[in-house]
Amino acid sequence: MTSGASNDNAAAGAAAPTPQRIGVPREIFPGEKRVATVPDVVTKLAKLGFGVIVETGAGDLADLSDDAYREAGASIAASATELWSSADIVFKVRPPTADEVALMHEGQTLIGFVWPAQNPELMQQLAAKKVTVLAIDALPRTLSRAQKMDALTSMAGVSGYRAVVEAANAFGRFFNGQITAAGKVPPAKVFIAGAGVAGLAAIGAAASLGAIVRANDTRAEVADQVVSLGGEFVKVDYEEEGSGGGGYAKVMSEGFQAAQREMYAQQAREVDIIITTALIPGKPAPRLITAEMVRSMKPGSVIVDMAAEQGGNCELTEPGKAVVKHGVTIVGFTDLASRMARQSSTLYGTNLFRLTEELCKTKDGVINVNMDDDAIRGLTVIKDGEITWPAPPIAAAPKPAPKPAAAAVEKKSGHGHGPGGPMPAKTLAIIFAVGALAFWAIGSFAPAAFLGHFTVFVLACFIGYMVVWNVTPALHTPLMSVTNAISSIIVIGALIQIAPPDAGANGRPDQLILWLAFAGIVLTAINMFGGFAVTRRMLAMFQK
Ligand code: NAI
Repeated sequence: MTSGASNDNAAAGAAAPTPQRIGVPREIFPGEKRVATVPDVVTKLAKLGFGVIVETGAGDLADLSDDAYREAGASIAASATELWSSADIVFKVRPPTADEVALMHEGQTLIGFVWPAQNPELMQQLAAKKVTVLAIDALPRTLSRAQKMDALTSMAGVSGYRAVVEAANAFGRFFNGQITAAGKVPPAKVFIAGAGVAGLAAIGAAASLGAIVRANDTRAEVADQVVSLGGEFVKVDYEEEGSGGGGYAKVMSEGFQAAQREMYAQQAREVDIIITTALIPGKPAPRLITAEMVRSMKPGSVIVDMAAEQGGNCELTEPGKAVVKHGVTIVGFTDLASRMARQSSTLYGTNLFRLTEELCKTKDGVINVNMDDDAIRGLTVIKDGEITWPAPPIAAAPKPAPKPAAAAVEKKSGHGHGPGGPMPAKTLAIIFAVGALAFWAIGSFAPAAFLGHFTVFVLACFIGYMVVWNVTPALHTPLMSVTNAISSIIVIGALIQIAPPDAGANGRPDQLILWLAFAGIVLTAINMFGGFAVTRRMLAMFQK
């Protein structure tokens, strides 16, 4: 056991730190089939220097045998007691039960779903054990660096897909329209309420099965995403901004809610399947589907209420169950991700591996819970027995303060490009005057051919600078991939310099030009191949 060794290795001087052991217990929450790591991830954890111990039978319900873990290099613990006592770090899916907390020891680190806001008692119990707890649900999701560790997103994605599968199972018809010898079958109509992570996954899955998919969300900015996944965005006939910041919704006004109810009532009459995923974090799920709407649906229709655990988006949902009311099957399962246990365990295990990489940058099998790192700080809810939740909000990158003079010019001219704002007119005039003088001086002494090339060069620099400078930072990556075209022109120019077409018999270019052209080709080649690599990665992101 090497508990407590985590942050002391620096003090140990040159001696190599003792690698820590990651323990993966069998989940004991009733019906939970997921496991916090999979054999493929065990191999990767070993490469980071960690030992891995898995409780016997931990992966059984996700079709992952003890032998598969053993082959990947893990050792198998015969009991939960053995596992918890021999692990320095414990990976879990569900929050620990009181019995599991009792098995923990001082200095241990727990990583998994904790839901600190909903579980204040559990937080106290964990703190009393003087452990460190990283709640994967508290990860600051707005940090783009944190996306690879975002288990909430990966689990919601699986659940959204599974919601469609459950709907298809309860629905007695095809999703796609068919014309057969036995008659014509119309496509199923699916309405998705809430187009967050789970909703978008459900839209994609239902559209790929051939259904007509419609969706609504209070955040208007998701409309394009709905369309890009093959759905149609249905607007509420009421003007109100629905975004509450951080990619989440806000509670809408009474007026909006009334207009939304009207639109939902109409959809309920028209569609065959409703999948609801609407949620505002920390609030009970908004009631969007009333009993009256259920009654108005066609017999045999299906509602899958993904928000069942938070009180349900539908008035008639019974959490954890599938019930038939007024001829409509209402599915309120709260374990959708667990119903695809192998897939979700693989995704979850990979999220935890990515987090472990962040915690162990030295790859020496010892984690360092660095509280100066925004992502790590966000999800560390208890540090060595001290409750550190909630984390302070992440400071937005400071915007450069506009210079007073620049602001004045901006007001007059109405332009405002570039990060520092436009220059005062006087400075600009001086720069132009100096530039013109320098140009005149060069023109008086340099050969005529040089002046022509030089003018093109200066203009190219100016236009290139203005074009690139005004591109928003988010588009810099695609911009880099299209600079290949510019690079090709540079390479052609450099090749012409190395072997000029009109060189004639005595026409070897001088050594300086030769080497400059050679350097130009090498540098541009780096840019070109880099551009191709970036383009390939970007395209791969959109490939199925
Ligand atoms: P999310 O926060 O990404 O999405 C919720 C969406 O609902 C947001 O786009 C939000 O704008 C929208 N919304 C909020 N109020 C609305 C309203 N009044 N009308 C229309 N749209 C509204 O959440 P995520 O991760 O997609 O999860 C969705 C739901 O599914 C949550 O309730 C979550 O707890 C649940 N879930 C259920 C699982 C299960 O096994 N049943 C598994 C995973 C998630």
